[in-house]
Formats: sequence, structure tokens, C-alpha cells
Amino acid sequence: FVAKTLAGKKVVLTAGPTYEAIDTVRGITNISSGKMGYALARACRDAGAEVTLISGPTGMAAPIGMQRIDVSSAREMHDSVMQTVGAADIFISVAAVADYRVKNRSEHKIKKGSGLPVIELEENPDILATVASLPAAPFCVGFAAESQNLLEFAESKRKKKRLPLLVANLAQHAMGADSNQVVLLDDAGAHALPDLPKPAVARAIVEHLTRLLPR
Ligand code: C5P
Repeated sequence: FVAKTLAGKKVVLTAGPTYEAIDTVRGITNISSGKMGYALARACRDAGAEVTLISGPTGMAAPIGMQRIDVSSAREMHDSVMQTVGAADIFISVAAVADYRVKNRSEHKIKKGSGLPVIELEENPDILATVASLPAAPFCVGFAAESQNLLEFAESKRKKKRLPLLVANLAQHAMGADSNQVVLLDDAGAHALPDLPKPAVARAIVEHLTRLLPR
């Protein structure tokens, strides 16, 4: 039995990596598996929420009982979030969004033999920061994967993006793994959870965010 603490709430959630094309067959991505985001989408659904899951390329099966929108690049993810988030009560940004995309992407497969190719980068939009600064912003939850100074970097990120809740984890332990040890950062301070399977971490996050929701 799961308490329907999010009954009547609309949740938009991003998960997985993004893929930034270099040419027609090559791209830049990261080791995000989508497991944490998908687990959180399921936990929100189980708590009674109406969930829209906006997913980068993961190879994971679409969870039942929610709408999944498949995207590839950060810009596609951004556009899809902007189209859906207006109706949302809660936005949860779990995706490992690429900070940069390829500026000089080739419309043909790059051939060897004409000198070393140079990949130029340009900045992607910060989806979470954009949503959090909307005039009628939903309750926003961010994730921070750091490889050092976890709490310090994560709390400054929470402040900068003006988030009521941020989930901090160590990138090298969390990404791709089946379990995760996180610290929840909110206005009241830091709340550390034990190392748990991702579905259990997801349930704990849902419980925590439910207590923080405006009523
Ligand atoms: O600043 P940083 O990328 O570490 O912040 C991580 C948080 O911001 C995550 O919740 C991630 O989903 C979100 N993010 C985003 N768009 C970006 C970069 C990060 O929504 N371009």
C-alpha cells in the first residue's frame, strides 16, 4: 500500500542522458542510465500523481500508467519541457543534460583523411533554471551530481537556481548504478539518506517533497 500523497498533482520529470550529435552517426553523451529518474517517475505515479516523463535515450521500457515523451538532444528536452510544464504542479529534473552541444555539427558522416576534425561547442539552455524562474513556476526539484565538495557545490547550485529541494549525490557512485546515497537539501538544511536501491531513494524523495509542497 502506498499513500496517495500526490493525488491530483501533475508532475513533469526529465530523466536519462542527452545526446548531442557531432555528425550523422556520432555524438556526445554521458553515462546516465535513467534508473534514478525512472524510479522517481514510478514513485510519483504510485503516490497518485499524473506523470509526464521526458526521457533522453536510455533503452529503458516505458513505465505503465504515465505518458513518456522521447527526446534526444538538450534542446529537444528543453522544448518538450516548455510545452508541458505550464500545467504542472511539480517539475523534477533528474536528467543529466549536456551543458554543451556541437556548434559545427556535420550533416554528413565526417571522413577521415582531411586533417584532425575540430569540434566546437556552444552552451545549452539550463532547463531547470529556466523553469524555476518562470513567473508561475511549479515546485522544482533538482539533482546535483558532483565529484567533489558535494554539499558545498550542491547548496550553492540550489541557491543559484532558486530550488526548494535539491538532491545531491556523488556522480561517480550514482550514475549508472542500481543504488544511490543522497543528501536532500532544502531551506531547513541537509538531510542525509542511507545508501539504498534507487526505488527506495525515489520513495524517500517523494515523501520529503510532499511535506514541502505548498498547501
Ligand atoms: O548545474 P548542473 O548541471 O550541475 O545542475 C544539475 C541540475 O540541473 C539537474 O537537476 C539537471 O537536470 C538540471 N540541468 C538542466 N539543464 C541543463 C543542465 C542541468 O535542467 N542544461
